Amino acid sequence: MKKIIVFGVGEFAEIVHYYFTHDTDIGVASFTVDPSYIDEESFNGLPVVPFDEVERRYPPSEYGMFAAIGYRNVNRDRAAKVAAAQAKGYQIASYLSTKASVPSGLTYGPNTFVMDHVVIEPYVQIGRDVIIWGSSKIGYRSRIGDHCWITCAVLGAAVELGDHAVIGLDATVASYVSVGTGTVVGAGATILKDTKDFEVYKARATRPSRVPSTRLRYR
Ligand SMILES: CC(C)(COP(=O)(O)OP(=O)(O)OC[C@H]1O[C@@H](n2cnc3c(N)ncnc32)[C@H](O)[C@@H]1OP(=O)(O)O)[C@@H](O)C(=O)NCCC(=O)NCCS
Repeated sequence: MKKIIVFGVGEFAEIVHYYFTHDTDIGVASFTVDPSYIDEESFNGLPVVPFDEVERRYPPSEYGMFAAIGYRNVNRDRAAKVAAAQAKGYQIASYLSTKASVPSGLTYGPNTFVMDHVVIEPYVQIGRDVIIWGSSKIGYRSRIGDHCWITCAVLGAAVELGDHAVIGLDATVASYVSVGTGTVVGAGATILKDTKDFEVYKARATRPSRVPSTRLRYR
């Protein structure tokens, strides 16, 4: 694969562009989006090409693709773009940060993205199209399904994540717990028991004090 085309022009696409440019020998040639999403002709200094024309300018025999779409719609939008790119004949790239700690022999599918300082313990299995944001920890023998998103979270040992699960910022899933298909675990939530499919778990946000910071006694 010479270079990749990144599907998307949002925040995740910017991150994907950064890491493929600075931490791989692949690099990014261009961005692509559905024609109705084209606002600008370039993004991050590279051309933005309509998805229905991308294979004419960047043939699948020479270029790969990465779908940089977020976790909305429990990752279904990104899964659909991976499938659409594969249908056009593109090889789908994956990225493992050189600053991630990954066990030897780790298997993972296409469109997987593992950022800096992620720690993946031995015998973990990762499916296809799995995004693991920086500083997450995936415990020994955990199994991550397809099309999941994990943001700076901690999974204990032998956790099972169903397909399309979303694990939010700083969330924790205890060891031996199964998270159902399409479950959303919100930021800061703690999951101690198995969840059902498509449940949403929300942590209670910290409330502001009645006292302004100018009146704190710092006891
Ligand atoms: C889990 C999380 C996404 C839920 O967020 P949320 O603000 O409750 O989501 P919504 O805006 O859809 O819901 C707001 C309210 O509308 C309700 N609502 C949403 N969709 C609804 C629907 N279709 N019908 C009726 N009510 C609905 C919700 O139940 C909620 O009500 P509540 O406040 O009484 O609980 C949020 O808590 C969270 O953790 N976000 C951060 C995730 C994260 O870490 N992302 C990583 C960044 S890379």
